[in-house]
Amino acid sequence: MPTTLFHTQLEMSTLVRTWQDSHETVALVPTMGALHRGHLALVEAARRVSDRVVVSIFVNPLQFGPSEDFARYPRDIEADLALLDQHGLTDVVYAPDTSEMYPEGHSKTQVIVSSMASVLCGQARPTHFAGVTTVVAKLLNVVRPNFAAFGQKDAQQLAIVRQMVRDLNFPVEILGVPTVREPSGLALSSRNRYLSPTEKGLASSIYAALLRAQEKYLAGQHDARQLEQLVRAKLGEVGLEPEYVSIVDRDSLQPIEGEIHRAATLAIACSVGRARLIDNILLTSGS
Ligand code: PAF
Repeated sequence: MPTTLFHTQLEMSTLVRTWQDSHETVALVPTMGALHRGHLALVEAARRVSDRVVVSIFVNPLQFGPSEDFARYPRDIEADLALLDQHGLTDVVYAPDTSEMYPEGHSKTQVIVSSMASVLCGQARPTHFAGVTTVVAKLLNVVRPNFAAFGQKDAQQLAIVRQMVRDLNFPVEILGVPTVREPSGLALSSRNRYLSPTEKGLASSIYAALLRAQEKYLAGQHDARQLEQLVRAKLGEVGLEPEYVSIVDRDSLQPIEGEIHRAATLAIACSVGRARLIDNILLTSGS
């Protein structure tokens, strides 16, 4: 059966109600389209736990800053639908247009997970996570899923969404799905489309540097500053200047100074050519 395409909240919520009436569980995979294998991994994780899978596709203007890539963000709904059809695990694609999502042109109400939205990427993108949490809250209210899947590549987004769900009692279980990588180690991202082949080669140094730091950590180097320095030095060798390299508590995202005593995320943002890339790796004794 080809994937059904809905554009309105009414169609979406009516179908979900019939599924729920027949005691079927529903999982939501929120996306901005330009789908790749990383998104398919989210769909697979959703399908493993749920009877029904909804993929939302919406390039959310609220999460882009004024000088960011909203206008040129890749949009190709036909290609996205073809990929999901071929993959065969998605029941419905929910692709509202902007006037369906924001009938008044904007949302007066915003959901902000305060201290977590201003660290890491929040320093350069101060309004980004309010945009993400506001749209995710709206999507959760339209689809009312039992599960929602997010990639671990966006570790800050994942931690913030988990916090929002706890704080606001959304009746949904959040699934964190491991990052899918190219053989070079480069994390899959819709923004990789902005990279030339040479830049792609350079960008693979990001994961190489994260892996090196993880190795050092597992070998006993637990000083956060030293590990951050190591990553900066590795990137410097190939001429990359990261926007940040930071070790933070995995759940609260608060920076760790000195010794790492709890599960931590080593997170990085780095521009390569026109693409602002992010990646991260876990630092735990079991990593
Ligand atoms: O990760 C994304 O693609 C977006 O931030 C999300 C979660 C779909 C919200 O617009």
